[in-house]
Amino acid sequence: MASVLEIRDLHVSYRSREGVLCPALNGVSFGLIPGEILGVLGESGSGKSTLAVSLVRLLPGNGEIIRGAVHFEGKDLLQAKLEELQQIRGRRISLIFQEPSLALHPTMRAGEQVRQVLAAHSSQGKSGLNEGTRQVFAEVFPEEVDRILRSYPHQLSGGQRQRVLIAQAIVCGPSVVIADEPTASLDPATQMEILGVFRTLRERLGLAMIFITHNPALLSGFADRVMVLYGGQVVECGPAETVLASPRHPYTKALFQSIPAVSNGRGSSRKTRLPVIPGDSSQSSLPRGGCPFEPKCTERMDICRAREPALVHLGESHVVSCLKYEN
Ligand SMILES: Nc1ncnc2c1ncn2[C@@H]1O[C@H](COP(=O)(O)OP(=O)(O)O)[C@@H](O)[C@H]1O
Ligand SMILES: [Mg+2]
Repeated sequence: MASVLEIRDLHVSYRSREGVLCPALNGVSFGLIPGEILGVLGESGSGKSTLAVSLVRLLPGNGEIIRGAVHFEGKDLLQAKLEELQQIRGRRISLIFQEPSLALHPTMRAGEQVRQVLAAHSSQGKSGLNEGTRQVFAEVFPEEVDRILRSYPHQLSGGQRQRVLIAQAIVCGPSVVIADEPTASLDPATQMEILGVFRTLRERLGLAMIFITHNPALLSGFADRVMVLYGGQVVECGPAETVLASPRHPYTKALFQSIPAVSNGRGSSRKTRLPVIPGDSSQSSLPRGGCPFEPKCTERMDICRAREPALVHLGESHVVSCLKYEN
């Protein structure tokens, strides 16, 4: 099926204070299928947030897209004019971040915050804007539309605030939503509720989603596909059931072991500690000629220091970047 978003060989670096370019993404390629939920998984520092913001060119000032392409609706967003990009951000592709309290204006009612996003991208009159806002609130708050529309952020719970941000993200009818750890600051029960909201929206509105998390437990029963990042590279990607039940890359296996009970312990603690695989990772994103995970890999072979692995197809849509599977 044709992708709604197609990322090719994306390389992104950050410039250090000394002026040195440090790679954060090293040749990431993938396609997002219309209506699918793609889970992007990786420990802290693997490049997940860099990926999210690079796709719509919202990198911080010291971030640089070195090369690559992001195809969306017939355009390469990395080459598009700023005005074209502004028409796409928030309207056709929207982003949701982790901390709902920081993203909302503290003294503006929830309804108004969503209405302003709609107004910025639409030529509708007052009644159209109000109606559009009400409709989107009805999607995310089926039971208490009126109360929430009139509430200020401090009158809402963390989960309700996150729903307001979801309303903002979908109010213009995007075809892609990128959510970067959107439930990380919520308690486990609320996390599950929010995942439920995303699932309903995917079914009702058919939007495709890139759902970024460090917690594999959130993806089981939720994501359609899982893509695992390590040191700014895709190390494994495939159908969620396959990758979550039988991971093949040694990094994916180590990541799952670092979080107890992947299959049933969804969001087992309030603030899941970011998993970090033991061993030296300081060199992991620097080109050394071999596999970036080799210094930490419990299954390493002699060849892993000498040669960088390519992506190997294990099944029709399951790929892994590990020399164990190359022949
Ligand atoms: N603004 C920044 N300036 C310099 N380096 C950064 C900046 N943001 C992220 N990085 C570095 O880029 C790499 C990827 O970071 P990030 O995309 O935030 O990973 P993740 O979201 O998976 O935790 C890390 O090595 C991180 O230290
Ligand atoms: Mg991040």
